Amino acid sequence: MTGEKDLHTLLATMHPVRRDGEFVYVLWPHGKPLAGGIAAAVREAEGLTVVMLRADADGLGLSYDFVAAWITLEVHSSLEAVGLTAAVGAALTEAKISCNVLAGFHHDHLLVPVADAERALEVLHELAEDSGQQRPVPAPALELRTEQPADRPAILALTAAAFAVSPVTGLPVEGEPEEVGLLRRLFDCEEYLPEFSVVAELDGEVVGHVISTRGWVGELELLGLGPIGVVPRLQRHGIGTALMNETMARANAAGERGIALLGSPEYYSRFGFVPSTTLGVEPPESAWHGHFQLLPLAVWPGGVSGTFRYAGPFTG
Ligand SMILES: CC(C)(COP(=O)(O)OP(=O)(O)OC[C@H]1O[C@@H](n2cnc3c(N)ncnc32)[C@H](O)[C@@H]1OP(=O)(O)O)[C@@H](O)C(=O)NCCC(=O)NCCS
Repeated sequence: MTGEKDLHTLLATMHPVRRDGEFVYVLWPHGKPLAGGIAAAVREAEGLTVVMLRADADGLGLSYDFVAAWITLEVHSSLEAVGLTAAVGAALTEAKISCNVLAGFHHDHLLVPVADAERALEVLHELAEDSGQQRPVPAPALELRTEQPADRPAILALTAAAFAVSPVTGLPVEGEPEEVGLLRRLFDCEEYLPEFSVVAELDGEVVGHVISTRGWVGELELLGLGPIGVVPRLQRHGIGTALMNETMARANAAGERGIALLGSPEYYSRFGFVPSTTLGVEPPESAWHGHFQLLPLAVWPGGVSGTFRYAGPFTG
C-alpha cells in the first residue's frame, strides 16, 4: 500500500481543490441502464446511489435533494491513513458545515452543501496551515562520542539494564549481570583504549555504549569488542548499529587490523563479521565456535593463524 499515512504530513500538505460544477446524490432507478457522467456510486441492498453532475441528472430527469460542491483533498493519502477524515470532519463540524466523505484509491473527497463551498475551502486551508505550524519538533539527533569519566555511572547502569535478561539464555539474570563487573575491570585495565569506549547520547542521556579493548592473535594486535548495550526502551531503533558503525570507522581510521567479538552471527554478520575460523583465528573457548566472529578491516594482513586472546579482565 502506498500513500502518505502520517496525519501531520497529510493535513499540512493537503490541497483542497473544488471540482467544477454542482453534484447531486441520486437514487438510480431500478433497471435503468447507467448513463451520464457518474462520479461515484455505492451499491446497497436498497438500491444504487450515484453521485453525478447536477446538469446530467437534470438531463436524465432524475430527482435529488442534496446539491453539493465536490472538494478533493489533493494529497496522496494511504487507504490505511488514520485520522485524516476525522480531523477534516471535526474542522467542518466546528464551522457547522455538513459534509459527506468519499474515499478514492488516491484521495479523499468531500461533498459539502453548495452554499457552504467557499467557507469549507477556507476551513480546510486553515486546517492545513495550522497543521504545518504545529509539526512535531524533530527527534533529537543521536550523538556518538568518546566516553568521559563522568559518563561511567550512566554506562554501568545502562549495561546492567541491557543485560538484565541474558542474551545467551533469554532468562532474567539474578543480581548484577556479569557484564557490569567486566566493564568496570575493562575501564581500569592496561588494554583499555580510550577512543574505543564510545557512548551514544540522545538528548543529554547516555543511551548506549560499546567498548573495544586490545586483544591479540599471537603478536598481532586486534580489537576485542564488547560488551555493547543499549537501554532496553530504545533497543531496535538503530542505536546499536550506530555504535557498531562508529567503532568500525574509528578502527579503520586508527589503522587497526580487525575486530573480534562473541555474539549472534545473525546480528553481526550484517556488519561484515564472519566466523573467526574462516580467517584462521580460533576462539578463546572452543565452545564459542560459530559465535566467535571477526571483522577484517582495511589493513587485515592475511595469513593469520592462532587463537584470539582477549584483554586480561575477560579471563580474570
Ligand atoms: C544487541 C544490541 C546492542 C543491539 O542494539 P539495538 O540498538 O537494539 O540494535 P539496532 O536497532 O541497531 O538493530 C536492530 C536489529 O538488530 C537485530 N538484533 C538486535 N539484537 C539482536 C540479537 N541479539 N540477535 C539477533 N538480532 C538482533 C534486530 O532484530 C534488528 O533487526 P532488524 O533491523 O532486521 O529489525 C541491543 O539490543 C542490546 O543492548 N541488547 C541487550 C544486550 C546484548 O544482547 N548485547 C549484545 C551481546 S553480544
